[in-house]
Amino acid sequence: MSHAAHSPSPQTPQASQRVRATFDGEPIETAAGSSIAAALTESGCSAWRTTANGKQRGLFCGIGICFDCIVEVDGESGQRACMIPLEDGMDVRPQRSRSSAPPTGDATSNDSSVSDSNSEATK
Ligand code: FES
Repeated sequence: MSHAAHSPSPQTPQASQRVRATFDGEPIETAAGSSIAAALTESGCSAWRTTANGKQRGLFCGIGICFDCIVEVDGESGQRACMIPLEDGMDVRPQRSRSSAPPTGDATSNDSSVSDSNSEATK
């Protein structure tokens, strides 16, 4: 038998801490340590950018490989939302089409425009 006294935990686990930022001017939040993609998903957003061909993209691989989730973070484009923890006050925005800053990936970048041309045959 345990006599579990109701003791308030003086050190709250960090999972209960929330961080708040904005996406395209709208508030988003998630548990401290969770990714920008997690915050967007928690807010009900499943696709947060549109490719040059009009295809919607969001979280796909979730491990930093596909680049489908790219966003702008504090003015820096080409950031993978699944790999960056959300921080208080971040200004996250949808990735603009290629005009502002193409990904600097070396060999295997799975840029959305590549995906688009793969999924829709060009004739
Ligand atoms: S979801 Fe694939 S790189 Fe982020």
